[in-house]
Amino acid sequence: MIPSFPSLLSLIGVGLPLLLIVLLQRFGSRNKYTRLTNAPVAGKYWRWEPDFITRYRFVLNGWAVVHKGWSKYGNSVFTILRPDSNVTVIPQRYVRELQNLGDDVLHPIEALSQDVMGDYTGMNILVGSHLSFNVIRNKLTPNLGDMIPIMEDEMRYAMTQEMPPCRGEWKEIDLNNIMTRVISRMTSRTWVGNPLCRNDDWHSTNLSTTEQIFHTALALRVVPSSLQPFLHCLLPSRMKLRRGLEQIHSYLIPIILQRQRSLQCDERPPESPHDVLQWMIDLADQEQNKPQNLATRYVFAVIGSLFTVSSGLVDCLYDLTENPEMTRVLRIEAQSVTSGDSEWKKGTAKKLEMLDSFMKESQRVNAPSPLSFKRIAQRTITLSDGLVLPKGAYICVVNSPHIQVDDGTDPTVFDGLRYYKKTLAQASSSRYQYSSTDASHISFGHGRYACPGRFVASVELKMVLVHMLLNYDLKFTEGKRSRPKNLQFLELGFQDPSVRVLIQERGQSN
Ligand code: HEM
Repeated sequence: MIPSFPSLLSLIGVGLPLLLIVLLQRFGSRNKYTRLTNAPVAGKYWRWEPDFITRYRFVLNGWAVVHKGWSKYGNSVFTILRPDSNVTVIPQRYVRELQNLGDDVLHPIEALSQDVMGDYTGMNILVGSHLSFNVIRNKLTPNLGDMIPIMEDEMRYAMTQEMPPCRGEWKEIDLNNIMTRVISRMTSRTWVGNPLCRNDDWHSTNLSTTEQIFHTALALRVVPSSLQPFLHCLLPSRMKLRRGLEQIHSYLIPIILQRQRSLQCDERPPESPHDVLQWMIDLADQEQNKPQNLATRYVFAVIGSLFTVSSGLVDCLYDLTENPEMTRVLRIEAQSVTSGDSEWKKGTAKKLEMLDSFMKESQRVNAPSPLSFKRIAQRTITLSDGLVLPKGAYICVVNSPHIQVDDGTDPTVFDGLRYYKKTLAQASSSRYQYSSTDASHISFGHGRYACPGRFVASVELKMVLVHMLLNYDLKFTEGKRSRPKNLQFLELGFQDPSVRVLIQERGQSN
């Protein structure tokens, strides 16, 4: 018997969702990374809830799932079911025991690569070696003193290029976009040097390729892992990413070849390039030194140093705009330390102690993610209290503004001088610095593989913030007093791209 049209519709109406549930349950549950059998799952509304529902709840409610999981199970291990993988959250007390383990036991870059869907975006090129990590830690950071005048020169140039004329009038600007371009220019100067760092097309290609990496990663992360191999080639962002990489290669490969040739002929000029690309060429092994390989490594190494810094910068500027009193205090400090925006010296950044404290507080309150210290267990690890982390587990630690306040003060209050006061009280010069990490301050990770670029990030932020403090006034549009909220997706935080603020250049008399 042929079913009537309405009953056919109701059959489809019931059948399709059922089919979808069966498919999602079947494919969605085959996720990467070993799950601890006894660990409770955060974010389940009811006990028998199918896993795929919990996984998809994480997409738009990831931060809430983490925080609820942490309040309920924070003292023990718990599981987060992300659409792309199983994640094991361990209490902060284990960090000390794990922080110095090598990547043969706990691999940091494998976890970062998973989050950026490295198998499909190409970031997995970084997993087998620590070339970029070593270059930043052993070359860029120790040479930071020499790089400061170069960074400052580029920052001033970038400001003239990116800031609109706004003397005596309020102009509406896309602060996020401007600051991202300023940081891209400063980063390019220290990573590839002149003349490429002054090429506008290079910046646009660089930034849009980085964006396509994230778009591709985010799109794939909400797809069950077993479907990713089929879907990735259909994504428009993946095609744009491939084109972007080709364009970046066309810029970088001739430079790499030319630099390698002058090394082979021992023609290194006395003024040889003093930048990250050159250090990568110097430290790379034979395979990594192939121009194609090196250029791709460059792209994936540099992405961690762009949006991280620019969004930290925008958070600081929003927090300053919300706190006029703090702006006044930091302006006085900036004025006295830099003698009115004159040239930066080696020790200038270190002397900006209140600004440093403010930046750390801004990072505490606007953490880039509620999860950090991400590692993949390469073998089964038994911890001192008997907890077993199985081989293949993706582990991480909660990064919460509440954990970072352990002195009885209110963690929900923004206190820009919180860390400055702690430093004064404990006569400890470095423990509470922006670039310092410990088991509870883990926005830069912690331990052996903590972010090697955090000292560079600290100087970049201070340089731009001092320039902004001394030269511009900011206010929110439509008389708003409180800062715009950041957007959340999965376990990531983003600036809202639709936000605009008002800016005015300050006069001599201010
Ligand atoms: C505010 C800005 C930044 C934040 C919040 C940040 C955060 C992080 C975090 C959380 C990690 C993982 C650490 C761990 O697992 O223990 C990391 C790794 C890393 N960071 Fe940063 N970072 C920032 C800026 C930079 C800068 C400016 C550079 C380069 C100059 C950089 C280069 C790296 C590198 C090379 C790694 C190792 C992984 C990789 O090769 O991508 N970061 N960062």
